[in-house]
Amino acid sequence: MLMHFNNKSSVYPNRSGYKPEVNEQYAQSLIPVADNLLGLLSSGLGLEDGDIKQGLGGEDLVYMLKINYYPPCPCPELALGVAPHTDMSSITILVPNEVQGLQVFKDDVWYDVAYIPNALIIHIGDQVLSNGKYESVFHRTTVNKDKTRMSWPMFLEPPAEFEVGPIPKLISEDNPPKYKTKKFKDYVYCKLNKLP
Ligand code: OGA
Ligand code: NI
Repeated sequence: MLMHFNNKSSVYPNRSGYKPEVNEQYAQSLIPVADNLLGLLSSGLGLEDGDIKQGLGGEDLVYMLKINYYPPCPCPELALGVAPHTDMSSITILVPNEVQGLQVFKDDVWYDVAYIPNALIIHIGDQVLSNGKYESVFHRTTVNKDKTRMSWPMFLEPPAEFEVGPIPKLISEDNPPKYKTKKFKDYVYCKLNKLP
């Protein structure tokens, strides 16, 4: 297991009360939740509980906690926090602070994701393993005129060198592979550079 913390201390003014060790505790406590979710996604495809985790690198699966910091913006109608995208992780587990900002796209409409205290938001990311059976959620964030928004997504993704592709048990004549099998780092490179 590898854990990355991309937490720039500069985004934590002393008065904010945020402490890096709390992020670490939070990330650690999410691991069983994450593993549980992967098991459920696996059985939802009629697979063994461990198959999705195995397809993401097993014990080498990367649990990457990122911290997003969106300062107030004088012209929120002209800017976005994050441009529309799908996550490259298999799933993302996110908690935001109470400032509204996350939106998901469905039936040509951007919907606000309601802030529910203590709730975890789960994004289905790019579902190479499920061969697209689970659809990734297209989402973006807006910014607020007066308030700072923060969010703590944990991305569950394979190690860079690990080869990912549709799980072979799911592939058949009726369900041919929709994705090429390639190293995760190459998947990221191709997606970012809009290559096949
Ligand atoms: C992301 C993301 C959403 C949010 O970091 O990939 O979509 O609510 N963040 O900050
Ligand atoms: Ni995202």
